[in-house]
This record gives sequence, structure tokens and C-alpha cells, in this order.
Amino acid sequence: MQDDPEGPGFGTRLVQMGRPRSAAQTFVNPPLERGSSVLFPSVAARDATRARPFDQVLTYGLKGGPTHFHLEDAVAEIEGGSRSQIVSTGLAAVTAALMAYLRGGQHCLVPDSVYGPTRTFLDGMGAGFGIATTYYPPTIDEGGLRAMMRANTALVYAESPGSHTMEVQDVAMLARVAHGAGARLVLDNTWGLSFFRPFDHGVDCSIQAGTKYLGGHSDLLLGALTTSDDANWQRVRSTATTLGHYASPDDCWLALRSLRTLRVRMQEQMRSGLEVAGWLRGRPEVIEVLHPALPGARGHDLWKRDFSGAASLFSVVLAPRFDHDDLVAMIDALRLFGIGASWGGFESLVLPTAALITRTVEAGKFPGQIMRLHVGLEDTRDLIADLEAGFEVLARHAAGRAGRPHPTPPDWTGQ
Ligand SMILES: Cc1ncc(COP(=O)(O)O)c(C=O)c1O
Repeated sequence: MQDDPEGPGFGTRLVQMGRPRSAAQTFVNPPLERGSSVLFPSVAARDATRARPFDQVLTYGLKGGPTHFHLEDAVAEIEGGSRSQIVSTGLAAVTAALMAYLRGGQHCLVPDSVYGPTRTFLDGMGAGFGIATTYYPPTIDEGGLRAMMRANTALVYAESPGSHTMEVQDVAMLARVAHGAGARLVLDNTWGLSFFRPFDHGVDCSIQAGTKYLGGHSDLLLGALTTSDDANWQRVRSTATTLGHYASPDDCWLALRSLRTLRVRMQEQMRSGLEVAGWLRGRPEVIEVLHPALPGARGHDLWKRDFSGAASLFSVVLAPRFDHDDLVAMIDALRLFGIGASWGGFESLVLPTAALITRTVEAGKFPGQIMRLHVGLEDTRDLIADLEAGFEVLARHAAGRAGRPHPTPPDWTGQ
């Protein structure tokens, strides 16, 4: 993982980060601190703290308290950025970043594989605010992206790998093109948490849906925006506080607790995810496994160049002879994979994703039904046995509708 040969290893830093540094007698973990109003000894003391809106000082609950500050320090360190702002959800982090970098009359470029609600925000509220959005193929080359830049392009947005279809993006190239035209680069780095160092690749602001691996236990929602430098920090921080973004200190405290085991969970889930993905590759029902860490998979070369590990979220494309109802029958039959959105928890999850995918540039890129899997901490032999039984149901269901002429094509237009 993110081991710096000169300094302490990532595991050591995970244990140390986001904790009080004082030598005084204290608990191992920073205690949970809740609060709204802050009391000052004098008006002058209050005025002095209000004059420092970008610093970690107690002014009012909305601006954060000690529990937020500890988590913000830790996330900034994991992401390798200057500072972090914690907000209530991953989606709040996405929309706050978009509001920080875009104004009415400006244009942004967004990958076609972006997380659906990001697209919903831009096409709805963003358009209402006068922001123009163009979607680009996520694996576009440098010349292609340059040609899409406009005089008013203020932001290039990236998400790597892309939601559901897992396209890996050349983030350094995106940064080169964006910065060359005076635009900024925002990356949704949720999948790459601790495996991809956004600021080594020129990212201005990195987004984490802390709900996923950072929370790690499917019991909280959080988001984080981390910036490369002071100028980006001030932009993001002032946007978040102007919009009234906040996160519960209880959730921040839980996230701080979870991040101590981040490396062990992610390494184990990476190993299990790759084992299950490799097994799926050998199944006759599957025509492609969309997992960039699998040798020979789409995006593998870029993943190998830029990432030090892989999350356990990936997708599989089924042979076109199976339709949506076949897939639903298979998924309903699984016992260990819960049917559910979100990911990054300790448990395995599955979803049929056709209804969650919108593609306006690369519609019909994959010829079959897509199933997204999140591999948790269960034993892989049990997960594989569960999937094996599920494939039997899939085949039986497909055989049972032999009279019907054609499978339903995947729906790429739904949200
Ligand atoms: C890539 C990505 N970004 C952002 C989010 C939003 O996170 P949250 O559910 O915390 O709002 C999600 C949620 O699934 C996601 O998958």
C-alpha cells in the first residue's frame, strides 16, 4: 500500500493518525465530542477565532469540533492531500465539490461512467444554475479530451474506476489537459481509497464516499473532500460551510474507529475479490469480468501503473443469452450475497445494475446483463459455492423460457 520507504509504513501511520499527539495521560482513542454552541472567555477571543475560517479552531458546531478535526487529519493523510473537509454523505461531497468549482455560464466535462446521482445533480440542479455538462468516454485519449475543452470549461471531473463498469481513467493525463486550459480536476477516488494517491497525479480535489471502506461496517454515511493545496482548500472549505455541510461527530468517531483496521480489511477484501473474480472468469455464463486488477482485464495496464491495490467491488457481464429476469432469478437465489446498494462494508453484496446505469455516450458498450458484486470478509469458498448454486438457477431459468424469442436487451437509459 502507500508505504513511504523513508518514513513509517502505512499500517503504522493508520494506527497513529487522527489521535491526540500530546504526551499527557489520555485514552488511546480520541473521545467523542458533541456540541453546537462554543463559549468564549471574551468577545476578543471570539473575534480572533472567527477571523480564522480555514483553521481547525472551535467557533461554532457547524465549523467542526475535535472529533471532526481528528478524522479530517486522518483522511487528509490517507489521501496524501493538504486538508480535508468532512460532510454528511459521499453525495454531499460530490455536490459540494461541483459547487466549489463551477458557476453559472461555465462548462464541465464528466465521464460517461460517472456515479448516477452525480449525473442527476448536474443534469438537473446544475443545468438549472446555468452549468453546462458534456459527458466524455472515460477512456478518451489526450487529443480527444483537448478537443472537448471549451473556452468556459472550468472543471474536468473524473471517477476511476467508473461506477458499475469500472473503466480506469488516466488521471495524470486528465490533469494535464485540465490545467493546460486553466480548468481544475476533481476526482471521485472512493474505489481507490489508500490504493491511489490522487495528488501525485495532479488532482485538485479528491472525493471520498466515507460510507464505503472508510466506514467499513455498513452503519454510517460520510463524505470527505481533500485538496492538494491551500488555494483549493479555501475554495472547498468556504463552499462547504456556506452550504451548511456538516457530519455527525458520532459518525466521525465511528469512522475513526474503523480506519484503524482499514488496511487489514482492504487487503483481505482485495485478495478475496480477486479470487472470486478469477473464478467468475472461468464460468461459461460470464463473457467478461470488469475488475481492473485482473490481468488482461480492461484498464489493467493503467491500474498496474497507478494503483497499489484494488477494492473488492467489481462487475461481471453475462452472455447475451441471459435476460434480466434470468439474472433476477439467480440473484434472488443467492444466500450469502445480500441484495443491496452501497459497498465497502464487511459483507458481500450483489445488484443487477442495468437499471442503475445511464450511458449517453457509450450506450450498448456491453452486450449482456451486468451484475455488480461487492466481496466482503466471508470465506471465499462459501461465496463461490453460493455463486455456483446461483448459476444453476440462472441456467434453469433461461431454459424455462426457451419458447420466448429474444432476451430483453439491457436498459442503458434508466437511472
Ligand atoms: C463512486 C461513488 N461516489 C459517491 C457515492 C455516494 O456516497 P453516499 O452513498 O455516501 O452518498 C457512491 C455511493 O454509492 C459511489 O458509489
